[in-house]
Amino acid sequence: VRTICLPDVEAAERVGELPEGVRVLVWDATGDPPLGIEDVEFFVGRYIGKPASADALARMPRLQVLQLVSAGVDAWLPALPRGVTLCNGRGVHGASTAELAVAGMLAVLRRIPDAVAAQRRHAWQPRAADGLTGKHVLIIGAGDIGRRIAAAISPFDAESTLMARSARSGVLAIDALHDQLPLHEVVVLAVPHTPETHRLVDAEFLAAMRDGALLVNIARGAVVDTDALVAELARDRIRAYLDVTDPEPLPADHPLWSAPNVLITPHVGGGTAGWQQRAYTLVREQVERFLRGEPLVNVVT
Ligand SMILES: NC(=O)c1ccc[n+]([C@@H]2O[C@H](COP(=O)([O-])OP(=O)(O)OC[C@H]3O[C@@H](n4cnc5c(N)ncnc54)[C@H](OP(=O)(O)O)[C@@H]3O)[C@@H](O)[C@H]2O)c1
Repeated sequence: VRTICLPDVEAAERVGELPEGVRVLVWDATGDPPLGIEDVEFFVGRYIGKPASADALARMPRLQVLQLVSAGVDAWLPALPRGVTLCNGRGVHGASTAELAVAGMLAVLRRIPDAVAAQRRHAWQPRAADGLTGKHVLIIGAGDIGRRIAAAISPFDAESTLMARSARSGVLAIDALHDQLPLHEVVVLAVPHTPETHRLVDAEFLAAMRDGALLVNIARGAVVDTDALVAELARDRIRAYLDVTDPEPLPADHPLWSAPNVLITPHVGGGTAGWQQRAYTLVREQVERFLRGEPLVNVVT
């Protein structure tokens, strides 16, 4: 018998039928674990809420795989036991996150927040705005989300430049960042939060952006130095659309809320309708690969 553990009953239902001889436990790594937890080899972390603690993961000494259903894994890394393979949910939230990045980009460029504010006052107040047509968009991160954003904006006659760790056909290396920043009116962050990308967007980065340029962050808040961003926004020099902030949740008295030219959504890029089915289809396929001894997909470490 091989034992796997899923975070809740709904996940167990959605994973569906697994090969014979697989025992499924349900535990979200909080509270008392179920009987047999010490046999778990494959554990799926919960999507919403805090990551599992090192103590909780230590209840599973035979653990080989920690599977997440989010693309970002940064919050889980500190407690990851040695020798355990970490896999993410790359692809599960890609389409919805790319969609929100484009929605936020268009909303800021077309001044939708001003229209919403005017509508609340019943005020008919046309305002000049720019659009995406003819814009040059620098997308930092050429993975699932970055490529989807590039594809989504191409019908708007925007030109995108993709950037990743290493160069390849159609993708520039991150080394070219400071040459590229002044050439683009929109800069999108679609990278994971890692020691290399921590506060990648600092005062120098922001200063290299063009006047009036738009920064879009749908990656992780800590990829941006929030104080430097607040300072640059306060100078009325650039604009921003942020689905993620550092800190999160953003405290009610944080200056970012009322900085000029910023649109904020509360980290809602992923998790739109249908995500559970995509997530648990990935989990089932992954468990099947694991049981057959085949290489896993979405391996992060
Ligand atoms: N807002 C939300 O709700 C939401 C939802 C889903 C995901 N996210 C965030 O978005 C991130 C990206 O997701 P994804 O699915 O697109 O990931 P992905 O497919 O793994 O792609 C990540 C991309 O980032 C690049 N990258 C990594 N480190 C870099 C560095 N130091 N400098 C430059 N580029 C670097 C990678 O470069 P290479 O191609 O060279 O490896 C790759 O192109 C996730 O990690 C997550 O934090 C947010």
